[in-house]
Amino acid sequence: MPVTEYEDKVCVTLPSDASTQFTVLKYGATVISYKTKGHENLFLSQAAKLDGSKPVRGGIPLVFPVFGKEQDVSNPLSKLPQHGLARNSYWEFLGESSASNDSVAIQFGLYPEIANSELTSLWDNDFTLILTLELSPTSLRTHIEVENPTKASKDLKFNWLFHTYFQIDDIEDTFVTNLSGSAVYDQLMQSNYVDKLPVIQFTQEFDKIYSNVSDKTMTQIVDRGEVLHTIKKKNLPDLVVWNPWIDKSKGMADFEPKSGYQKMVCVEAGYVKEYITLKPGKKWSAEQTLCEEALTYQSI
Ligand code: BG6
Repeated sequence: MPVTEYEDKVCVTLPSDASTQFTVLKYGATVISYKTKGHENLFLSQAAKLDGSKPVRGGIPLVFPVFGKEQDVSNPLSKLPQHGLARNSYWEFLGESSASNDSVAIQFGLYPEIANSELTSLWDNDFTLILTLELSPTSLRTHIEVENPTKASKDLKFNWLFHTYFQIDDIEDTFVTNLSGSAVYDQLMQSNYVDKLPVIQFTQEFDKIYSNVSDKTMTQIVDRGEVLHTIKKKNLPDLVVWNPWIDKSKGMADFEPKSGYQKMVCVEAGYVKEYITLKPGKKWSAEQTLCEEALTYQSI
């Protein structure tokens, strides 16, 4: 069976190759494992909570309707915790949406009626989220559709982000490429500038938002010339690059081992610098694809 549903998760294997597979927790509709030919692509902290007691530290948590913490107290989104409510809600498994010998897709849904009620009580908005996850021999496509239902009484304002934790061999040998020339907001220094460096390298805590990144940009995570991961995206103009490094890792109870920062980097495709606004009855969609590609140099 390519799709197996358990009480707390769904496992999907490629019909033509059982060593290519992914697993999604119903809590947060969080992908917690994505293997190609037996090789794990995602980082998952050994202390990650998988029981619904807190968002998962690793895999692909989903960020909606706010990225980070909204500071403007006049904005209703400021009532929500960091990164919103989607990663802290149980999603509904909607089943298999398509399958062939070479691909299989499943869907999850989230609506206020089933979302975390502690959080929906803080932010009173209608919404329908449909997440489609499609596995092929060399890729995992994650597609999101957000709808402000026709019956809604107000506009829906939101951010979206796929908060992907990639597994790497050694952060100090790792480059993130093809973002040279992008506008950057450094969340640690709280400063804006244009990135002129040919590649991103890591020597300390790193938390930056690259904005207005073209959908033609293929961001790659490279270790000494070998491409470990390639991220393609549609309708997601921002990329957040994050590594907690030593001190921040020590402060995160669910981050283990503490040396784990050497084995992960988050490259997060999203729409976070601005809010998307949907009138009642309108839909918005976007996607990211994690795939295999040869080393590609793209200048801006
Ligand atoms: C990143 C943010 O997206 O998520 C960081 O840019 C943040 O600032 C990180 O520290 C992890 O957030 P959280 O809420 O999962 O600890």
